[in-house]
Amino acid sequence: MIRTAAMAILFATSFVTHASEQASAKADPAKGKIVAETICVACHGADGNSMTSANPHLAGQIEQYIYKQLTNFKSVDGKPAARDNAIMAGMVAALSDEDMKNVAAWFASQKLKPEAAKNEASIALGKKLWRQGDFKKGIPACAGCHGPAGAGMPAQYPRLAGQFAEYTEAQLKAFRAEERGNDPEKMMRMIAAKLSDAEIKAVADYAAGLR
Ligand code: HEC
Ligand code: HEC
Repeated sequence: MIRTAAMAILFATSFVTHASEQASAKADPAKGKIVAETICVACHGADGNSMTSANPHLAGQIEQYIYKQLTNFKSVDGKPAARDNAIMAGMVAALSDEDMKNVAAWFASQKLKPEAAKNEASIALGKKLWRQGDFKKGIPACAGCHGPAGAGMPAQYPRLAGQFAEYTEAQLKAFRAEERGNDPEKMMRMIAAKLSDAEIKAVADYAAGLR
């Protein structure tokens, strides 16, 4: 019995390792750069450093997260896309699976020029939510999944450090309103549902200043 269980775990582990090795072996950032320079440049910058907060920074984002979002923006067989955004739906429509892997690898390999925290008065609240959450309200620490310094964790958890506060705030509100529902197991919708507007603003600003 014990041996079978151990073997099953071994098998599962080697399968996961193998699958992720395959994914990164396939991606070609040099080909992704061409996609970035021809299509994405207008809004995200060729190196993934965007000029305006409506368009998120992609530089230094987790590769698998970028790829997942691109597939989520795509409508498959006429069904609504998992992440509904008219602009990005148009952008991914013409991209192949290979293009999406390549461009994800390109942006993930670029260096982020990070934003900064701007609101001195809310730093303490933002820091508390980031590091400890709020036990009474049932809010977990953001650091638990997005990392102590907000760098994200491969493969599921995106980088939030240095992102535009306005973008982070908009996404938290979209999760709370269930307008964005592509988070696995409702992880973000359940957390955002418990956050007030003031808490969302504070934690988004704090994350912009994380390094
Ligand atoms: C016309 C402007 C525009 C262009 C061009 C564009 N994007 Fe976007 N992109 C956006 C906007 C706006 C959002 C934010 C969507 C939202 O609010 O949910 C976004 C979001 C994203 C996200 C989600 C990031 C995150 O942190 O979740 C990814 C990934 C992305 N874009 C990749 C790309 C790639 C790759 C290209 C080129 C093939 C591209 N975009 C071209 C405007 C654009
Ligand atoms: C249990 C794990 C978990 C915790 C804790 C968590 N997150 Fe997340 N978060 C996720 C996952 C998973 C995603 C990616 C969803 C997807 O695949 O689209 C995400 C995505 C996000 C996004 C979207 C980023 C983007 O680039 O579009 C924001 C913003 C965010 N989280 C903020 C927070 C904040 C703020 C906290 C703390 C209050 C927090 N998260 C706590 C798991 C978590």
